[in-house]
Amino acid sequence: MSDIVLEVQSLHVYYGAIHAIKGIDLKVPRGQIVTLIGANGAGKTTTLSAIAGLVRAQKGKIIFNGQDITNKPAHVINRMGIALVPEGRRIFPELTVYENLMMGAYNRKDKEGIKRDLEWIFSLFPRLKERLKQLGGTLSGGEQQMLAIGRALMSRPKLLMMDEPSLGLAPILVSEVFEVIQKINQEGTTILLVEQNALGALKVAHYGYVLETGQIVLEGKASELLDNEMVRKAYLGVA
Ligand SMILES: Nc1ncnc2c1ncn2[C@@H]1O[C@H](COP(=O)(O)OP(=O)(O)OP(=O)(O)O)[C@@H](O)[C@H]1O
Ligand SMILES: [Mg+2]
Repeated sequence: MSDIVLEVQSLHVYYGAIHAIKGIDLKVPRGQIVTLIGANGAGKTTTLSAIAGLVRAQKGKIIFNGQDITNKPAHVINRMGIALVPEGRRIFPELTVYENLMMGAYNRKDKEGIKRDLEWIFSLFPRLKERLKQLGGTLSGGEQQMLAIGRALMSRPKLLMMDEPSLGLAPILVSEVFEVIQKINQEGTTILLVEQNALGALKVAHYGYVLETGQIVLEGKASELLDNEMVRKAYLGVA
């Protein structure tokens, strides 16, 4: 298998007359964390939505593990191994923690593997194990984010995409979320991480892209972006 899990080529997305994504290119190498950073409205969610098959790519190509997945139905893309943790941690509030996690495994039949992965998720998020019977909607914001990540992991994704997992969390939980993202990656999962928290994301990522009004304006090794003058001024609040 190639060492590139995901490749986006000259992607364009429109919402009616709004040209939201204007020809972006990006690559996610196997085993890495790649981050896409940008301000409100830059097009981060739209990019993930196009990859996941939730919005139409009007132009361009999306290649996953060597296969063209452009504009395939979302459930097909999901079954091929791409999981999305959506913005605003959309868990099922009326289902228990356990039921939410099992929703992530709905297209799996390997009972032993599912059991093993549940244990893996409990090791990542011990608090979920203590709350298995609690309704998702009654969890704290941070716990719901953990549950949303855990649910995505239950599908054993080859590519895990996360849309602003740190958004709206208290500072201590923000660092917890970034730590767990790093751990998930170190245990073998390739990750495409969308964030407005550029500092947190660039600290855990291998490579980064900066998105502004639908275009990539800068890319590079995460460590280099952390030192980049433009990034420091615009995204890290450093003069
Ligand atoms: N369903 C939609 N219909 C029309 N325009 C949309 C729709 N969704 C997004 N847009 C527009 O597309 C552009 C990109 O939006 P997108 O949600 O991808 O940005 P984002 O980078 O994820 O922003 P945020 O950080 O606020 O989540 C914005 O100008 C937005 O107004
Ligand atoms: Mg967004």
